[in-house]
Amino acid sequence: AARLAILLSGRGSNMMALVEATKTGVLKGLAEVAVVFSNKPDAFGLETAAALGCPVAALPSQGRKREVFDAEAAQLLQQYQPDFVVLAGYMRILSPAFIQPFAGRILNIHPADTHQHQGLHAYEWAFDNKLTETKITVHLVDEGLDTGPILAQQTVDLRGADTLAEVERRGLAVEHELYAWALVELIKSKQPVMSSAAETSRVLK
Ligand code: GAR
Repeated sequence: AARLAILLSGRGSNMMALVEATKTGVLKGLAEVAVVFSNKPDAFGLETAAALGCPVAALPSQGRKREVFDAEAAQLLQQYQPDFVVLAGYMRILSPAFIQPFAGRILNIHPADTHQHQGLHAYEWAFDNKLTETKITVHLVDEGLDTGPILAQQTVDLRGADTLAEVERRGLAVEHELYAWALVELIKSKQPVMSSAAETSRVLK
């Protein structure tokens, strides 16, 4: 199974959905959680992850120079040998020191179409602009802010969503499904290599 390092800074609802997907959902047998990591040692999501039985790790980023923190975080994560680094509300812009060791293997979920909106507060943006729909985006992370290649997108119907809370509720429901499916597709697309290795070890047993 592909090893996931899930990174978060706060609530962790996407992390929770992914953990559930590896246990009983679409990622079962395809992926496992190697570690849940946070740059905020008191993040709520970290407690949830521990309660779900996931290995957890934290390294406080506050007051640290970006490149120095990122290099340390990357080193820590490498000990868990992740196949994919999955950003789930990890509220940091990543420097090359972090990206290079995992290049092409870092995913992010963004609660808008990354061609239309980048950075923070995407649901507020959709709500304030009275959009009738928005698009949840899963993309690979490169060195820009929400600029990497798109892996999956799903439209959220916002008609009649007359509070920000309702916009978020509808959006998060889509996020929680889409992220797991995007990982399924990505893992399967890389699987010829993985499954032939699994095949070989089965034959050898
Ligand atoms: C999610 O809505 C996620 O898409 C967003 O933060 C929230 C984290 O919630 N990420 C971004 O805005 C990244 N620019 P969660 O901690 O409950 O998963």
